[in-house]
Amino acid sequence: MMRSGCRMSLVMWIRVWVMVAAVVDVLGGGCLIAAGMEVGCGVRFKDEVASFKVAIFADLHYGENAWDEWGPRQDVNSTAVQSFLLDHERPDFVVYLGDLITANNLPCHDAVLHWFQAVGPAVDRKIPFASVFGNHDDASFEWDPHSGVGPDEPLQTTSRTELMDFDMSLPSSYSSSGPKTLLPSVSNFFVPIASSDGTRIVAIMYFLDSGGGSMAEFISADQIAWFTTTASKFNSDASIPELVFWHIPSIAYTRSGPKPNQPIEAPCVGSINDESIAPQETEWGIMNVLTNRSSVKAVFVGHNHGLDWCCPYNNLHLCFARHTGYGGYGKWKRGARFVEILQEPTTLQIRTSVTLEDGSVVSELILALDKVEPYIQQNVASSIL
Ligand SMILES: *[C@@H]1O[C@H](CO)[C@@H](O)[C@H](O)[C@H]1NC(C)=O
Ligand SMILES: *[C@@H]1O[C@H](CO)[C@@H](O)[C@H](O)[C@H]1NC(C)=O
Repeated sequence: MMRSGCRMSLVMWIRVWVMVAAVVDVLGGGCLIAAGMEVGCGVRFKDEVASFKVAIFADLHYGENAWDEWGPRQDVNSTAVQSFLLDHERPDFVVYLGDLITANNLPCHDAVLHWFQAVGPAVDRKIPFASVFGNHDDASFEWDPHSGVGPDEPLQTTSRTELMDFDMSLPSSYSSSGPKTLLPSVSNFFVPIASSDGTRIVAIMYFLDSGGGSMAEFISADQIAWFTTTASKFNSDASIPELVFWHIPSIAYTRSGPKPNQPIEAPCVGSINDESIAPQETEWGIMNVLTNRSSVKAVFVGHNHGLDWCCPYNNLHLCFARHTGYGGYGKWKRGARFVEILQEPTTLQIRTSVTLEDGSVVSELILALDKVEPYIQQNVASSIL
């Protein structure tokens, strides 16, 4: 069989750009300006509601065995799961938590086409989203005799930078390739969530690249330094809750969670615990930094498809997402973790739960319940455009 996946490229590209052109109007957020310097683009609570809901889509694994039937079929299923969850839960933001694609099954240099399919449900609905990398997104092609590609042909993996440039070009993307000083680590950035009137930052989402694929699997000392500097600059008194997202669980997960295949007992909350944690290779201190900040409420990871629990760890919670895609290993019911920030007159509540593809909701948990001064001006931003 010849390289049918590659021959589709031009047609697919035209489709991509027709779609992008059709979705030009930009969203209700804005860019955070501090001391005249643009530091990050934020999203806002909608006027009419005091809640902001984030969907976490983890481990979609689009693009598997494109030369076969089951790969494209499971992608159709993954799009159906995403579409159902988006229309049923109507989130304000989507986090694509890594392994959007299985690059080791993609023989041609066009992984952006599969990336576009993966984030398509958010793009189509104009829902703001951000993406981080997992270990499969830029993994090298593993030769398969059925792929139509010769064993001696050069591997042409689409790089993290190329994937991120494409993601950032999509109209509702809030992703960023992060500081150049952190290269080859790419998806390191933050997205503030502002009040509907734009005068206050209610919460800040941090995204980190936990490596894998073309890189080793860890969060480096340089990434930790970037996080520490950024967090202390924009939230110096730790008054704003922070949520942290990356793909591969840190080693701390192995110390906080239930033993593999054992029942999930309080204070942990979850519905599946069917495998061993596959953590990062090493730990350079990110957990010390996070546990040292009272403002960090939770870390969310994917990677392990058979785990979906949250467990307390010092001052914060360590949570798994839920396998959302039909791609990748495992046949657990697909679903997504949601995180909802509820702004009440004197309290700020952060809740999480998992919604499955059949609409059932499991594993509800309150991650934070803080007293807040009503309408204090945060010193974070002099203005939000
Ligand atoms: C697609 O989803 C259906 C259930 O909705 C399942 O029976 C089928 O096996 C899935 N196909 C693939 C290729 O995953
Ligand atoms: C934790 O905070 C204390 C006091 O604020 C500081 O001295 C210490 O260096 C911090 N540790 C880490 C790992 O950031």
